[in-house]
Amino acid sequence: MLDINKIYQGHTPEVLKSFPDDSIDCVITSPPYWALRDYKLEPQKFEDGWEGQLGLEPTFKLYLKHLIQIFDEVKRVLKPTGTCWVNLGDSYNGSGGCGWTGLESKNWKQKAKPHNIKSVPRKSLCAIPERFKIMMIDRGWICRNTIIWHKRNCMPSSASDRFTVDFEYVHFFVKNQKYWFEQQFEPHLIQKNRPHGVVRNREYNYQGKYKVPYSVQPRNKNFIEIRNLPKIKEFSLWLNNWRKQQKITIDEIELKMKSQAPHHWFNGESFPTAKDWDRFKDLYNPPKDYDKQLLNISLKSAEKQSYPQGRNKRCVWDVTTQPYSEAHFATFPEKLVEPMIRSGCHEDGIVCDIFAGSGTTFKVAKRLRRNWIGIELNPEYIEMAKKRIKHVQMELLV
Ligand SMILES: C[S@@+](CC[C@H](N)C(=O)[O-])C[C@H]1O[C@@H](n2cnc3c(N)ncnc32)[C@H](O)[C@@H]1O
Repeated sequence: MLDINKIYQGHTPEVLKSFPDDSIDCVITSPPYWALRDYKLEPQKFEDGWEGQLGLEPTFKLYLKHLIQIFDEVKRVLKPTGTCWVNLGDSYNGSGGCGWTGLESKNWKQKAKPHNIKSVPRKSLCAIPERFKIMMIDRGWICRNTIIWHKRNCMPSSASDRFTVDFEYVHFFVKNQKYWFEQQFEPHLIQKNRPHGVVRNREYNYQGKYKVPYSVQPRNKNFIEIRNLPKIKEFSLWLNNWRKQQKITIDEIELKMKSQAPHHWFNGESFPTAKDWDRFKDLYNPPKDYDKQLLNISLKSAEKQSYPQGRNKRCVWDVTTQPYSEAHFATFPEKLVEPMIRSGCHEDGIVCDIFAGSGTTFKVAKRLRRNWIGIELNPEYIEMAKKRIKHVQMELLV
């Protein structure tokens, strides 16, 4: 039997063995990355007899072997309809992330070599997330997505001979072709600072938290303005043909209209506002082909538009890192975990984090009315996580 809403203290592969088959709906986790951080944990025994901390193996190949052993066990405990989300980072060969070389770790029991791996050129990324993904697929997992966690507020890098890395991967795996998944939506088009408040075609514009369509006028919050515009290329081609026939230059038009907007219309970058088109017509009297579409503005209820279903959520997730001062390691931002839980675990299902850390996964799971279960080796982190979970109020889901 599984004791839910609890964090088990222990070594992940061992604790997992005590979990029944097909008992968990969703696994969300971030294992220690290879050669990045010394969690100062007691050395643990792995199936192959190696003793040490996960992530501090002398080679990434051994590290990956251990991870795969753990995820074989995850596959056993995951329900046939379950989902599994793994956030994994990479390392540069020979860089020694936290200054660790294997030889220095006080927990190091086996004879270790510094992690300068012969099979990968020095300074190269080891491609650990990619290797992990391939190994998981080779073990029968179905990889449904590789999500890019884009960190707008990433740490600056001292490197000057490569780019600053501002993303991490989250691999999304399932056991079977049919699994529980609730489709997630995001706004159709996020376009800020549109110069005029008119919504183009059937696309919506959003401000801030994407909830308010851009063109909701402060004076009339109940409606947004909509025009049923033609394809922008079609319109600019038509406009240019007419202009060339008339032998007028764009500069002349801009001068006469006392505006720099017209070159955007002729370049197919934007439509004239209804007001601009009216003025333009007064000055030049162009054919009426597009008049109706440019001038007819209809009002739509903003209420309906405020929460449109939007488009299927995409794979690049822009989520700022969220430091948690009491943890000495990188914690999940809650916003990163939320779509995984919403899409990958039904209400009252069980979400499991097998490297619980500060318990972010459980915080979000509880808020979203899911059950949770975790594994963590360090008892201090378990206490930290318990404190964080205690204060969570369940969200009212309608
Ligand atoms: C990257 S942190 C996870 C952080 C977590 N996602 C959060 O939001 O706080 C990895 C965690 O794995 C734990 N850990 C490392 N080796 C472990 C092992 N063999 N068994 C169980 N937990 C382990 C570490 O103590 C650490 O808390």
